[in-house]
Amino acid sequence: MSDLKPHSRQYFGVTSLLAAHPDMRKLKRSTSATHLHGNKLWGSAYVLMDYLQENPLAPGSRVLELGCGWGLASIYCAKYQQADVTALDADPAVFPYLELLAKHNQVNIQTLSKDFTALSTDELVEYDIIIASDICFWDEMSEAVYELIARAVAAGVKQILIADPHRPPFIDVAEACIDDFFAELLPREVTTNRRHRGSILLIENA
Ligand SMILES: C[S@@+](CC[C@H](N)C(=O)[O-])C[C@H]1O[C@@H](n2cnc3c(N)ncnc32)[C@H](O)[C@@H]1O
Repeated sequence: MSDLKPHSRQYFGVTSLLAAHPDMRKLKRSTSATHLHGNKLWGSAYVLMDYLQENPLAPGSRVLELGCGWGLASIYCAKYQQADVTALDADPAVFPYLELLAKHNQVNIQTLSKDFTALSTDELVEYDIIIASDICFWDEMSEAVYELIARAVAAGVKQILIADPHRPPFIDVAEACIDDFFAELLPREVTTNRRHRGSILLIENA
């Protein structure tokens, strides 16, 4: 595993690899294409890391990331928040990228290939914290994301944190959660090599 600095970046202490990195080029040649937009790193993951840097998790938290894609937020939680992390995605083609990035960051992440709409209350009970970034991008996703949040609240998940760049289906979910679960919508702006604007939907389930 090479680590050529010109082909990698580090934000919030998490190393990511550019498309030109030899390990990424090799992986792209040998793996199948991703679906459901799991084809790159999305900026909202940095919005989430920025929030967690200011508002750390309790050490040892059992964290589930929904729609993890390449898993940078999961990697951040394992690397800097002493969390026990499971990264879930409906598209198994994202996991080789997550595993490569986890290796470069020297962390261990458990992966779960599953549609989050199929997660039951019994499964959600296993986690203290749910995190996600940019998982509500089509209109028809709003209801499924809201229902998932309702099951997680019923399961006793202590905190749910979803970052998003203000896509309309996400705003619909946020408004419903403010009404039903006393959620907060916290605007944030983060600069890496680009500016990322968005909000964290925060649900505290004390
Ligand atoms: C826009 S990408 C965001 C990826 C990652 N969270 C990030 O911020 O870089 C959306 C991700 O959600 C996953 N996804 C979409 N719908 C899903 C579902 N119902 N269950 C699980 N994963 C899903 C996709 O496969 C994709 O990896």
